Amino acid sequence: MRDSLAVTRGGRNSTRMKITLVAILLLGIGSAARAQAPGKWPPDSLINVKVIPKATPVMQVVGMMRNFAGALGVRCPYCHVGQEGQPLAQFDFAKDEKRTKLTARQMMRMVEEINRRVDTLPEHAQMTSHVEVTCNTCHRGVSRPMSLEQLIQETAQTQGADSAARAYRALRERYYGRAAYDFGEPTLDVAAFRLARAGKFAEAFAMLRLNEEQFPASSNLATFRANINLMKGDTAAAIAAFREAVRRDSTNGEAQGRLRQLTRP
Ligand code: HEC
Ligand code: HEC
Repeated sequence: MRDSLAVTRGGRNSTRMKITLVAILLLGIGSAARAQAPGKWPPDSLINVKVIPKATPVMQVVGMMRNFAGALGVRCPYCHVGQEGQPLAQFDFAKDEKRTKLTARQMMRMVEEINRRVDTLPEHAQMTSHVEVTCNTCHRGVSRPMSLEQLIQETAQTQGADSAARAYRALRERYYGRAAYDFGEPTLDVAAFRLARAGKFAEAFAMLRLNEEQFPASSNLATFRANINLMKGDTAAAIAAFREAVRRDSTNGEAQGRLRQLTRP
């Protein structure tokens, strides 16, 4: 039913089809037909809103929806029934079919709750400007707002270091300069450290090598390598890495202190 209606609207032989469609709607055959989008964009009114007040002007809702899409780095069909590239009039925005739309509704309630809580801060009454939590506060342009270190750590742990390196490079290619992921030096250091803590030493060292391609002069990175070698029980490699850390930065106090301890006669 759903598909045949979509085809009907897009079809060439549309006059007769439209009459058929109107007849079906008038006769009220099938609730699926009645639940269909009215074929009008923008719609005259809201049909199935549970969080947004029903009387909200439609264009305001559309603005809100654009913000959702931007915050998550997605387009309307991510949450709504419709095809990318299809006219919006053919979408069924009222229908609750996609998991993501239901999640988004929960998220809207969550954001309301967070802002209510933020608003109880004692200093809020005196403040002239408030920072409001929005979808973008957490999502920053991605649908699943996971930190890059967690994403890389999990990928390395479940799919291996090569997959993790590929994922890192692809994400960097796509998102560098955006707020979505932090491509600064500490990210892969921390991912490596967590991998080492999980006993995944080969993966940990692979992540440090990947990081070193971008930050070849980092003393901090060498300190991470040394500490991971210590966790692994390889004191000689740890000493060499701490020495490298000091060579790269003679003010690296942590590396100097560890070297003194490790080389004490
Ligand atoms: C992240 C998920 C998400 C994205 C992306 C999204 N929407 Fe929505 N949309 C929702 C949710 C959730 C509701 C229902 C809100 C409620 O229940 O109060 C909704 C409701 C609507 C409604 C009102 C439907 C009704 O019941 O009358 C319209 C119209 C709409 N969206 C249009 C759009 C458009 C246009 C886009 C793309 C620019 C878009 N949406 C992108 C989640 C999304
Ligand atoms: C406080 C942080 C936070 C805010 C604010 C937030 N989200 Fe989320 N959202 C998350 C987290 C965390 C997840 C991932 C949950 C998981 O997968 O375990 C998520 C997941 C989602 C998902 C599912 C993604 C997927 O692929 O499974 C949707 C859709 C979504 N959020 C929509 C929204 C919308 C729309 C808003 C604004 C109304 C919003 N979120 C605000 C933290 C947030």
